[in-house]
Amino acid sequence: MFSHAFYNVVHIVGIVLVMSALGATAIHALNGGTRQTNRARGLVAALHGTGVVLILIGGFGMLARLGFRHGAMFPGWLLVKLAVWVTIAALLFVPYRRPELAKPVYLLLPVLGGLAAYMAIYKPL
Ligand code: HEM
Repeated sequence: MFSHAFYNVVHIVGIVLVMSALGATAIHALNGGTRQTNRARGLVAALHGTGVVLILIGGFGMLARLGFRHGAMFPGWLLVKLAVWVTIAALLFVPYRRPELAKPVYLLLPVLGGLAAYMAIYKPL
């Protein structure tokens, strides 16, 4: 049985993978790069996908170690984190489709990460 600490490491590795993939893609698009000219596109997509899955495994693993009962209602703080997770999972497609949004996407990353961290650590809802 894996510990809360183990799942937390998995969670944070996932966050690092997703944020680095999104940052790289946003800055490439900001400099006029396209999906076609990004030679690391496959690598970035693979690491982003892996990160999204690791966040989920780590997050629900910690939730189980916190004694969260299966089938119970999700508390507000967790619903906000799930919304952040869905957003950072979908954001990879935005910079190349809407290059004018590449900079806002880049600036949004610390806001989303900070919001998810705040929800996890303070659980205000
Ligand atoms: C599927 C979505 C997610 C779930 C189920 C989830 C769940 C959790 C849980 C249960 C904890 C531990 C809280 C505790 O020990 O009291 C946690 C901690 C944390 N989560 Fe998430 N989370 C999710 C998404 C995210 C995302 C998307 C981010 C950032 C982008 C994030 C950032 C953090 C941080 C920074 C911590 C604190 C770690 C620490 O205290 O050392 N989480 N999360």
